[in-house]
Formats: sequence, structure tokens, C-alpha cells
Amino acid sequence: MKPRSAWCAAGVIAACLGAGALRSESENRAVAKTALSARALKDIASVEAEINSIEDQTLADVKQRSLDPSQKIILLGKLIFYDRQLSVRRNEACAFCHMPETGFTGPVSALNQTTVAYPGSIRSRFGKRTPQTHAYASFAPVLHYNALQGDLVGGAFWDMRATGLRLNSPLAEQAQGPPLDPDEMGMIDAACVVYRLSERPYRRLGEELWGAQAFAIRWPRDVKTVCERPGPPPDSDPLPVHLASIDRGVAQGTFDQIAQSIAAYEGSMEVNSFSSKYDYVMAGKAQFTPDEKIGYTLFRGKATHCNECHRDGGPGEEPLFTDFTASNLGLPSNPAIPFYEENAPDRFGYAANPLGLNFRDPGVGGFLESRLDPDRDWTSRATSFSGKYKTPTLRNVDKRPRPDFIKAYMHNGYLKSLQEVVHFYNTRDALPRCKVGDSEEKVTCWPAPEHPETMNRRQLGNLGLSAHQEKQIVAFLKTLTDGYTPAQQELERGH
Ligand code: HEC
Ligand code: HEC
Repeated sequence: MKPRSAWCAAGVIAACLGAGALRSESENRAVAKTALSARALKDIASVEAEINSIEDQTLADVKQRSLDPSQKIILLGKLIFYDRQLSVRRNEACAFCHMPETGFTGPVSALNQTTVAYPGSIRSRFGKRTPQTHAYASFAPVLHYNALQGDLVGGAFWDMRATGLRLNSPLAEQAQGPPLDPDEMGMIDAACVVYRLSERPYRRLGEELWGAQAFAIRWPRDVKTVCERPGPPPDSDPLPVHLASIDRGVAQGTFDQIAQSIAAYEGSMEVNSFSSKYDYVMAGKAQFTPDEKIGYTLFRGKATHCNECHRDGGPGEEPLFTDFTASNLGLPSNPAIPFYEENAPDRFGYAANPLGLNFRDPGVGGFLESRLDPDRDWTSRATSFSGKYKTPTLRNVDKRPRPDFIKAYMHNGYLKSLQEVVHFYNTRDALPRCKVGDSEEKVTCWPAPEHPETMNRRQLGNLGLSAHQEKQIVAFLKTLTDGYTPAQQELERGH
């Protein structure tokens, strides 16, 4: 594992921001100013401007008179999703880590290349994983144990911890996470999200859809100040907005409705358009190039096993390119994530990762061992799920705003291109272990897996594909980008 100081010295972007361990806060801020590369700052600023303009446009859309009920429901969710006022510093919307131009994943190339994780509303705090796409995630079932397969299926998050049991929707329960996550939007109390929303111009639309009680809450006089304090709340006062019990119940009900509205937007056609070249080919309205076609055959073939997990549909099934189960692909840890350095309390007394460099991401196993696990039978299986992560959809996996834009793949962003991903599946076990500082890492050698004990050795690791076949699979993966128009085919033919 590379020490972070080497990482900072290499001049690489914002990871140094997380290096709070050895510095005082003021020194830290000084470092922060110099450490964020001009490129990252510029990209962050343009993402923020884009979020504001999408929000303005959506506010204008809501004013139209002839909206269907379904449009109202979706637009309300979209307004919440693009609203940065719902974060403690009023600077971070959900969309900050989930933008359309990347298929609703991380929109800052310089961060994907380095920190992988995105800074929270408190900009010196980073989480431990890559932002997942929320597109096509609404098709995930409520988390359940399939006894015949001996497998957990469904839920949201890389580790499935948003089960969906309480609200009967994994995405709605997921949406209650980021606002209260100290490393993300950083609010101190769910009631603060409701309070902030009550001050927004679209409050009326909320009341129309959720009921007049939604914001009929007697707020304590200090609510505004309390809600400006970053979470997490102290153990001695877990709900710092002090509400009477009925008001607390109303606030929780509204928080649930906020979450369900977000899930409605995430499940909308605007987000899940099934409009990739692949979809056109399946509908008989476009044709694969020869390489794409061979890539598709390989993807579906016994040699690669790809579609055993990234299911491409069956009778009556929408091809979602996931089966919503979890696997351990044997990825190495990614020490470039600033989380490893967040072991000392920041100026608010919060340390994201007390374990520091000793942290091992436990994946689904960690969730099953935690107090979030809703089922004691599952707890006993925690060990067999350690290091496993939910299979992501492959739709929009190549979607990027420009050809040189870098995306971070896998839960820890260790892989940076589709070529690297396919090469990893093909050669994880065929190539030797890298030596420390090996410059050929990812090409002719691979580092040790973070969790060897549960690593999948049956379906991947040594597929025996040629370099050309790897490329053909990548060519196929690139056909999964939404927003294809048959006119593009004419252009492709011309080239
Ligand atoms: C600071 C960046 C950041 C912000 C802000 C953020 N997310 Fe995420 N999102 C992530 C990361 C990282 C993950 C994966 C986290 C994990 O698995 O532990 C994720 C996961 C998700 C998923 C899970 C998808 C799946 O297939 O399971 C959904 C849905 C989602 N986010 C929606 C939202 C919503 C809604 C909001 C606002 C309420 C939001 N995100 C705010 C970074 C962010
Ligand atoms: C055993 C099930 C399984 C098989 C087989 C499998 N995958 Fe995956 N795939 C996963 C899981 C699980 C992840 C996420 C792993 C993680 O983040 O730790 C993943 C991640 C990916 C990603 C990254 C997506 C993202 O958004 O980060 C790509 C691309 C991908 N797989 C393509 C393929 C291809 C191509 C094949 C065949 C060569 C394949 N997969 C075979 C389960 C599988």
C-alpha cells in the first residue's frame, strides 16, 4: 500500500484534502487550497453550474399547467435530487455525485482518476466507495434470501444495506442515506432535511402530493442554527432538532415521502430510457458492427460467464445486465481513496475511519454484521459475504461527456477503463502478482486480492481470451450507452 504522503507529493488532486491525520485544521485548509488541482476545481465548478441550471429548468417545468400526475411526481423527485440546499453547507445536491452525462455516476474526471470517492458537503470528508449509477437500480427487488441459490438478491448500495424492507423500496431507503451521511450531505437530523425543504420554492408541490400535514410541524426556535451543524449528532443527543413526539412522527413521515419522490424520479423513463444501440439492435432497428457482434456473443458465451451475473434478459425480462446478487471479484484494495487517511477527528470531532490504513472494506459481509441487518439468519452468513459487492448494471458503463474523460470502475474505482476491466476478468489468475511499485501493474501483473477467502474462482480469473477478443467485448459494452440514434449508425458506417 502506497503511503498517502507519496500520493500528495505526486501532486495528485484532492486526496491530500483527506490527509487530516498529521495536520492541524488550518494547515489542512491551506493544503486543501493548493492541493485541489486547477482542473478538478474547474470541473467541480462546472458540475455545480450545471446542477443549478437543471434545477432552474425543472422549476420552470413545474410551472406548466398541463402536467400529468405522473409528471408532477417525477418532477418533484427531480427537484429534490438537484437541490443543494438539502446538504449541511447548502453546496451539495445528490446530483453532485450522479450526473446524467456519465450515466448518473461521478461527473469529475480528475476525481475518478485519483480519489475515486467524492468530497462531501464538508469538503475535507470523503466516503470509501465510488458513486454507483442510480439508473436501472429501481428494478432491484427488496433484499431477500433465495434459499435454493443460497444467495442474497436485491437491495441498494454496493453492500445491499438499503434493503427496502421498511418502505418496500430499496431506492427510497437508499435516498435516506446520503442526506444524513457525515461524508456526504452531512445533515445532523432527518428533520433538518424536512425543514430545509419547507423553505424551498417547490414546497407547495410537496404539500399537493404528500398532504397538508407535510410541513405542519412546530419547529423549535433554534432549528435553523441546529441544522447548520454538520452531522453526525452526538451520542448524547441523537435527534438534535427537539420536536414533540407527534411533530417528530410527521417529520419522519415527510422524510419518507421525500425519499419515495426521489425514488420515483430515479425510476422514471428520463433516467431509464432503454435507448442504447443494444436496445435498437434487439428491436431490429440497428445493427451491431462485426466486432460488437462477436463481443456480444463472447459476453453471452460459456468462456466468459459475463451474462451469468450481468443478465441480459430472458423471456419477459428487461435486460438490466445485473442479477442483483453480490460477488467478490478478487479486486485489490485501492489505497488512493482518501478515506484511509481519515483516522483523526476533524475540527468537528468526527473521524470517518478510525482504523486508518488498517481498514478493509467488508462489503456485504459488513452490512450483515452491522446493526442494519434486519434478519438474524442472515447474520450467520456474514463471513461468506465478506468482500462481496452487488453486481452493477452495465447500462451506460461507457457513457462519458468526452472521449478523454476517465471513469472509475468497481466499488473502489481501482480500474479506470473498460479495457482494464476486461483484462482483469481475463487474466487475474493467469498473470503473476505485482512486485511493490511495479510499473506494469494492470498490464502484466495484478496485486493481491483484498479478500482472497471469498474470491470467485469459478467464473473469472483466467478466461483465455486473446487481446483482440478483449477489445471485442469492450466494443460490445460501448453499445450499452443510452441516447443512441439510428443516425449515429450512418456516421459509423461513413468512418
Ligand atoms: C458525495 C457523493 C454522493 C452524494 C452527494 C450522493 N451519492 Fe449516491 N452514491 C454515492 C456513493 C459513493 C454510492 C455507493 C455507496 C456505498 O455503496 O456505500 C452511492 C450509491 C447510490 C445509489 C445506489 C445504487 C444501487 O444500485 O444500489 C443510489 C440510488 C444513489 N446513490 C442515489 C443518491 C441520492 C438519491 C442522493 C441524494 C439524496 C445521493 N445518491 C447523494 C455517492 C453520492
Ligand atoms: C460472478 C459474477 C460476475 C461475472 C461472471 C462478471 N461480472 Fe462484471 N461485475 C460483477 C460484480 C459483482 C461487479 C462489481 C464488483 C465490485 O465492485 O467489487 C462487476 C463489475 C463489472 C464492471 C464495472 C461496472 C461499474 O459500473 O463499475 C464491468 C464493466 C463488468 N463487471 C463487466 C463484466 C464483463 C465484461 C464480464 C465477463 C468478462 C463480467 N463482468 C463478468 C459480477 C460479475
